[in-house]
Amino acid sequence: MKLYIETLGCAMNMRDSEHMIAELKTKEGYTLTEDAKEADLILINTCSVREKPERKLFSEIGQFALIKKPHAKIGICGCTASHMGEEIIKKAPSVNFVLGARNISKISEVIHRDKAVEVGVDYDDSTYVFDTAGNIGIKALLNISIGCDKRCAYCIVPHTRGKEISIPLDLILSEAEKLAQNGVKELMLLGQNVNNYGVRFSSNHKMINFAGLLREISKIEGIKRIRFTSPHPLHMDDEFLEEFASNPKICKCIHMPLQSGSSKILKSMRRGYTKEWYLNRVAKLKSLVPHVGIGTDIIVAFPGESEEDFAHTMDVLESVQFDTMYSFIYSPRPHTESYQWGKESIVSKEVASKRLAILQDKHKTILRDKAKKEIGHLHEVLIENIKHGEDSFSEGRSDTGKLIKIPQEVLKIGDIVNVQISQNEGGSLIGRCIK
Ligand code: SAH
Ligand code: SF4
Ligand code: F3S
Repeated sequence: MKLYIETLGCAMNMRDSEHMIAELKTKEGYTLTEDAKEADLILINTCSVREKPERKLFSEIGQFALIKKPHAKIGICGCTASHMGEEIIKKAPSVNFVLGARNISKISEVIHRDKAVEVGVDYDDSTYVFDTAGNIGIKALLNISIGCDKRCAYCIVPHTRGKEISIPLDLILSEAEKLAQNGVKELMLLGQNVNNYGVRFSSNHKMINFAGLLREISKIEGIKRIRFTSPHPLHMDDEFLEEFASNPKICKCIHMPLQSGSSKILKSMRRGYTKEWYLNRVAKLKSLVPHVGIGTDIIVAFPGESEEDFAHTMDVLESVQFDTMYSFIYSPRPHTESYQWGKESIVSKEVASKRLAILQDKHKTILRDKAKKEIGHLHEVLIENIKHGEDSFSEGRSDTGKLIKIPQEVLKIGDIVNVQISQNEGGSLIGRCIK
C-alpha cells in the first residue's frame, strides 16, 4: 500500500504529516511514494491561514481525482479540513474523508470509514503518543503544545486548532530522549505560542513555564542544539530572555512575529503589545546576545492601516534589522474578528501591493548590508549537507540561522564546527573551519 502526502502551511503541519506517516506505516503498512498516480491513499494536509491556497484546494482535488488509481482514497487533513468540514465532501465528492488539524491521531481509523468527517476542535490529543517512522535525520521537530488561546483579529488558527493545551513534560522529555538515541542533535520545539508553555494541561501537572521546559530539555546529553517557533512577543519576559541568552544549547536565533509596527494597529489586531514593548524586548535581547539572529512575520494593509501606521512598521524594520522576514498582504478570513469589519477600513489592493514591495525592498537592502559586515565573523555550524567530488563542500546552518558553505572541506553530517566567514557571494556566506 502506497501513501502520497502533500503538506502545506507551517511547521506544525509538517509535524502533523510526520505523525500521520508514522501511524500509517506502523499500523497500516503503508510506504511513501512521490507519485500520486501509484498511490492507494492521497492525503493533502491543508493550510487556511490565507485565502489563496485554500481556493486552490478544490482544483487540486480535481486533478488528483483524475489521475488516481480507481480504488485509491483521497483524504483532506489539516486546518482547511477543520474549518470547512463536511462542506469539502459536498463540494468534492471524490474526497473519502476529512480529518481536522486537531484530530490527526485518528488517521489510521478514518481511512477505513468512507465519508468520515472528524473535525472537532475540542478533541484533545495532547497526551497521545504517536508512532515513529524511522529515517530520522540529525534535526527533528517536536510539539510542545497544541492549539492557540489568543484571538488575534485576523487569524483563523484558533478556529482550526482549538484552545491551547501544553503537552505534559514527561511525554516531551521521553520523545526528545528517543530522538536523541536515534541520532538527532537539533530539536525544533513547536507551538503557536511556545513561550506560553505550561498555562494549561489536560490533567493535573506540576507548575512549569517555557524557561523551565528549556532547562529540562537541555539536560538531554545527545541534544546539542534547541530551537523553537513561534514565541509570542507579549510573553518575552526577562526570565525567558535570560534563559535564551545563558543556555548554551539554545540557538541564538529567534522568531519574533511583529505583524505591525504601529501600536494603534497592534491594538486592533489584539496582539497585546505595543511598538515600544516590542522594541524594548529587542533591545534587551540584543544587550544579552549582541550577535542574535532575529526573524519576523509582518502583515501589511490590515484594515485601517494608514500611511502613518505603515511608516511605524518601516521604522521597526529599520531599527531591528531583521535577518529573516515573512511578509504578507492581509487576507480576510472567515471566523475572524476583522472579517466582520466594514468596507471603509479596507486598504485598496494597489496600496497593499505597493506597501508590500516597499517593505520587501527595504528588507533586501538591509540583508545585503548585513551580509557585507559578515566577513571575518565566527559561527558555530551544524553540518547538514555534504557534496563529494571535484567541487566538494560541506554546508550547514549557524546557530544564528545563517546558511554557510565550506568549500573543499568534507566533514561529517552532524559535525558541529567553528567557521570563519571569508566571502559573501551574492548574499550566500562562504567560510572556512577554524580549529
Ligand atoms: N502563532 C504565530 C503565527 C501563526 S500564523 C504568531 O502568533 O505569530 C503565521 C503567520 O501568518 C502570522 O504570523 C501572520 O503574519 C500570518 N497571517 C495570519 N493570518 C493572516 C491573515 N489573515 N492575512 C495575512 N497573513 C496572516
Ligand atoms: Fe494566530 Fe495570534 Fe494565535 Fe498566532 S497567536 S496563531 S497569530 S491567533
Ligand atoms: Fe499552520 Fe496554516 Fe494551520 S499556518 S496552523 S497550517 S492555518
